[in-house]
Amino acid sequence: MDMDKLVSLCKRRGFLFQSSEIYGGLNGFWDYGPLGVELKRNIKEAWWRDMITGHDDLAAPAGAPDVFQMVGLDSTIIMHPQIWKCSGHYDLFHDFMVDCRESKKRYRYDQVRGRWLSAKGKEIFVCTSVEASQEDADLQQRALKFFNLRGKDVDQLAWKGETITLAKLERQPSDEGSYSAVLGPDAKELGTLTEPREFNLMFKTIVGAMGTEEDAAFLRPETAQGIFVNFKNVVDSSRVNVPFGIGQIGKSFRNEITPRNFTFRSREFEQMEIEFFCHPSQSPQWYQYWRDRRFRWYTDLGLAGERLRLRDHDQDELSHYSCGTADIEYAFPFLPPGEFGELEGVAHRGDFDLRSHMEGKLVRQGETLVVEQGADGKPRHRGSGKDLTYYNEITRERFLPHVIEPSAGADRATLAFLCEAYHEDQAPDEKGEMQTRLVLRLHPRLAPYKAAVFPLVKKDGMPEVAQRIYRDLKSQFTVYYDDKGAVGRRYRRQDEIGTPVCITVDGQTLIDNTVTFRDRDSLKQWRVKVDECRAELGKKVMA
Ligand code: GAP
Repeated sequence: MDMDKLVSLCKRRGFLFQSSEIYGGLNGFWDYGPLGVELKRNIKEAWWRDMITGHDDLAAPAGAPDVFQMVGLDSTIIMHPQIWKCSGHYDLFHDFMVDCRESKKRYRYDQVRGRWLSAKGKEIFVCTSVEASQEDADLQQRALKFFNLRGKDVDQLAWKGETITLAKLERQPSDEGSYSAVLGPDAKELGTLTEPREFNLMFKTIVGAMGTEEDAAFLRPETAQGIFVNFKNVVDSSRVNVPFGIGQIGKSFRNEITPRNFTFRSREFEQMEIEFFCHPSQSPQWYQYWRDRRFRWYTDLGLAGERLRLRDHDQDELSHYSCGTADIEYAFPFLPPGEFGELEGVAHRGDFDLRSHMEGKLVRQGETLVVEQGADGKPRHRGSGKDLTYYNEITRERFLPHVIEPSAGADRATLAFLCEAYHEDQAPDEKGEMQTRLVLRLHPRLAPYKAAVFPLVKKDGMPEVAQRIYRDLKSQFTVYYDDKGAVGRRYRRQDEIGTPVCITVDGQTLIDNTVTFRDRDSLKQWRVKVDECRAELGKKVMA
């Protein structure tokens, strides 16, 4: 699938717009248009329904070690700054970046890639930061320009080795600190890149009118911490018993150094996170359950092909507190063949989070986690001091629950569902001639409109019947009414936004009170009685 075609469809049909576009746009921020907002809401509602409100508290689902409860939460975006100190985000949530003294641009260290080459008796390491598909072309063009060569002189460039990240570049001791043989991604001269430096990804803001550093706060970089700090509130107010999960959907903010790949890496995005609290002895089984359950959620909604995979992290990839993490990944079309991008992480987090908020920021010491101490011997970041242990009244045991965290991105899921749904096939036009058809094969639960209603012509009472059907369906489904242009064109307009069913009022309706139902994917048509349209549509889209 050609990503450019999807991006252009998203803009043309109102799924996604660049934020602040009339002012030249703002990098890393995206607006969802009238169709995009419906699609993303349907994804979030499917998640909320399937994970929270639709969950059966009374029976253990297949694969689950026990019965469990699920509840929801909506915590604030700005929270007490100490939360981020104890969670580790304040000290550790950073990327390494390099600056270019010449172009004044800043790059993520692991995203600057380059290759050695020699020409005219000189050896340099030429860099690029463009997307993978354009990397080779950009490297060649930059090398030719640097050596003042033309396209026909390309044979004079002697490339050495593979393209590697700047982080993997082996330097001579004399180069240390200067990158003297490196041509930065936007530089004309060598040696303009700085050494990598840490850059915290949290957006800072000021709370209140004083505007001092003491009033500094952060926009949350994940929704998860809002759940951990409310653990006790939920236990005390909601009659939940461990094991249980708290789900939350909401905005998160990360000041990504190089936002890219459409909405994949944005600076403002939405997460759908569950923190599942369980007894430590059962946590490996619960981890397995959630890993499989969450993968199935995507396949059930249409990401059923080879482009979706579940990848267990190697031991050396695990966070210092985690004893198991798996990523649900999708082979987005903007990635090089064979590469996958993360849709969701399912992590076993042990008791790291609740302990951090109780005792203070933790660090690993050998096999155990201990409260990190400052030079004065006191906790580097002090916890709340509140008791976050859980008391099981039946077993009379007090313990600190372990946490399994399935953490998904609503924007990445939206993008993956769009990529997977995008198809071009052949379908007959009004004259019966085969034409290329663009169709979004979205799962009916996710499709922005469940049906479109058309009168074949704007006369003979057809619009009146079509409008009656439209209004009747509207009470239960999101439906669209269209009476403009040839009916074939109207079908195409619905196909390319993923509407599963089109309903047409035609000449026969006036004779036998039936309408034509047409299926988006099979193009099959069948007749349905006017007063059975609602039930028939329900069968099609709520199956
Ligand atoms: N609480 C754990 C956590 O936040 P994460 O892997 O950093 O884990 C979880 O984020 C999910 O949030 C990712 O799998 C991804 O879907 C989404 N996400 C993270 N950063 C994102 C970004 N810059 N743009 C869009 N989605 C992002």
